[in-house]
Amino acid sequence: MMRPWLLYILVLSLCSTTACQKDGKVESSMNTTIFGKLPDGRDVHRYTLKNRSGATAQIIDYGAAITSLQVPDRNGKIEDVVLGYDTVQGYIEGTAYLGSIVGRYGNRIGKGKFQLDGREYQLTVNDGENHLHGGKTGFNKVLWEATPVPTSGEPSLDLQYVSRDGEEGYPGTVVLKVRYTLTDKNELQVEYEGTTDRPTILNPTQHSYFNLSGSFTNTILNHQLMIDADGITPVDKGLIPTGQILSVANTPLDFRTSTAIGARIGEANEQLAFGKGYDHNWVLRSGGGKVAKAAELYDPASGRLMTVFTDQPGLQFYSGNFLDGSAKGKNGTAYQHRTGLCLEAQAFPDTPNKPQFPTVTLRPGQVYRQTTIYQFSTR
Ligand code: GLA
Repeated sequence: MMRPWLLYILVLSLCSTTACQKDGKVESSMNTTIFGKLPDGRDVHRYTLKNRSGATAQIIDYGAAITSLQVPDRNGKIEDVVLGYDTVQGYIEGTAYLGSIVGRYGNRIGKGKFQLDGREYQLTVNDGENHLHGGKTGFNKVLWEATPVPTSGEPSLDLQYVSRDGEEGYPGTVVLKVRYTLTDKNELQVEYEGTTDRPTILNPTQHSYFNLSGSFTNTILNHQLMIDADGITPVDKGLIPTGQILSVANTPLDFRTSTAIGARIGEANEQLAFGKGYDHNWVLRSGGGKVAKAAELYDPASGRLMTVFTDQPGLQFYSGNFLDGSAKGKNGTAYQHRTGLCLEAQAFPDTPNKPQFPTVTLRPGQVYRQTTIYQFSTR
């Protein structure tokens, strides 16, 4: 007869690779597969996190990217709500940062220049004359080291990337850890922890494109958005902040009450013209420092509601204005104009050149921390 402890180990190991039924309830699981190979021969892994409510998140170690996020609609139908690619090649060649962690600095730094402790640094210039999302080979274009967190409860995946001193022009070696957790309440939690060995700047963010409708051929223009912010950091035509804070009152950037994204996106407004739609940083009312509700995104057709919580002071809302059908995504779908939108929790753009903005400087001995939560429910 099989010994009870052997049976226990057998069941445990089965449950770690498959979704298990226990007392009629789905058990959580973490599953690892090879997603593909990099040109240098290294394997890219894909981790599937499944919670006890039946939602799943898939994450690859290339770019620490979320490749799929399956959550229920109001009838319980589980569908994917994030844009992505089917192959490693898609992520290597892609220019839209689909699903990735971006950094060392998410968003733009004017002319790629900044001063720190009296020294000037020149970063890679990769967006007109500016620096965007960490440069040419940002955190989205590197292989991270992934480690599933041992747990029998809510599945968690740790990813770490060591960014060397001088990479893309940044000073100091930064060690950045990101932990993704899929909770039983259908929340994808993203926790960051970063350290450095020399003074530097750090402002990573998550660059998932959401489309809650269940089909990536639909635009996001019928999605309704609420952002808990009274102002934005207005930008010039290169999308670099002027340094002021502009009240959203009486502008098409006022999302204090939930409004369809398409309702005002075509209005004559200088900021919308510069962004070719929405591509701005909202100054969150919470001010950052503690995890608070920042935004709500609702798709009336499917009933899916995504609530974003963060401890960051800013939220970049980007309405997928540069998607033009050239990115061939999952199942061969070409991602057309505005078929996905990003809500990127972060510090304000160009902070290193704007002393009045909340700081992004990180010094040896300090720990950078961020918590951002994407919570899914239905209405
Ligand atoms: C960010 C920027 C946009 C664009 C996208 C990626 O959200 O603000 O201007 O660069 O990333 O295409």
